Amino acid sequence: MSTYDLVRPLLFRLDPETAHNLTLAGLRFLEKLDLVEPFMPNVPPLPRRVMGLDFPNPVGLAAGLDKNGEAIDALARFGFGFIEVGAVTPRPQPGNPRPRMFRLPQAKAIINRMGFNNLGVHHLLANLERTAYKGILGVNLGKNFDTPIEKAADDYLILLDKLYGRVSFVTVNISSPNTKNLRALQSTEELDLLLRAIKARQADLAQRHGSYMPVAVKIAPDLDDAQIDAMAALFRRHRVDAVMATNTTLSREGVEYLRHGKEAGGLSGRPLREKSTRVLAAFHRALGGEVPLIGSGGIMSGDDAREKRNAGADLIQIYTGLIYRGPELVRDCVEALGT
Ligand SMILES: Cc1cc2nc3c(=O)[nH]c(=O)nc-3n(C[C@H](O)[C@H](O)[C@H](O)COP(=O)(O)O)c2cc1C
Repeated sequence: MSTYDLVRPLLFRLDPETAHNLTLAGLRFLEKLDLVEPFMPNVPPLPRRVMGLDFPNPVGLAAGLDKNGEAIDALARFGFGFIEVGAVTPRPQPGNPRPRMFRLPQAKAIINRMGFNNLGVHHLLANLERTAYKGILGVNLGKNFDTPIEKAADDYLILLDKLYGRVSFVTVNISSPNTKNLRALQSTEELDLLLRAIKARQADLAQRHGSYMPVAVKIAPDLDDAQIDAMAALFRRHRVDAVMATNTTLSREGVEYLRHGKEAGGLSGRPLREKSTRVLAAFHRALGGEVPLIGSGGIMSGDDAREKRNAGADLIQIYTGLIYRGPELVRDCVEALGT
């Protein structure tokens, strides 16, 4: 039995967002006292080179758990090979009204409609200054809810400018279901324009800084084969540094009759796994090995991690599995990927 097996029933009695905030605050407190590590599993090394970066292991923390980069040092003790914080937007914004996060324990799932609640990029940069973490750090980029969708590229470019050289990579998030019209950026015309603008700015910044910072793109699982082929062609043409497959789903298949099963937002965890792996595999075929893949969606065990690898993932990320399984899941995944 792990420490988390004792803590989880207490946390699960609280409203999910309260439990979330309390856990992050608790982790920060314990980290100050140097008390996080003794409770964490030992994670073996399993080095990987992806996007030109050296990862100590291929298991990362997915975006959305630490939106403002407040608990990076504590989360690093979990043994992740990389950490992604955010989503961050140029200006601070409160997100949707609460409640906006729901647990579906029978399905080992979460529905969320947070809506990019975050303290803005300046606050994130200040937090990044304070962290002692030297490992691989990514930042998930979102647009402000009140930036018109035609101007979305401007938000991503502002964030790219501000974060360039300060972190290991950034992820252009065009797949959150909780910002109106965001997923429209996945359509061929919009995506072509967006990638053109982002890759041009990345090239400028690389020259100015004398160093290259990779840009990944995170996609939705709710795509058909024609959309996948069209997007993959653009990712190859624009030489996107990695594709993250996938974000949460709008589907409610398998959870519609559960308590909270019909809440609006994105569904994550076990019911997302198969759909997400199918999309990952389809991108793997369509990208022809030219663009690395990061698999995310419903990884709750070492076997699930292997399933993503077998479908083409070079790296994986977890979020909902951590809520149900705790930090042991990081070691389970790394060990499974090593076999
Ligand atoms: C509460 C919550 C907030 C999230 N916020 C973000 C976000 O800001 N940006 C993003 O790209 N993904 C976000 N995600 C999606 C996760 O990063 C992950 O891709 C998705 O949940 C699938 O993985 P999982 O089944 O392991 O949770 C969020 C997920 C949850 C549950």
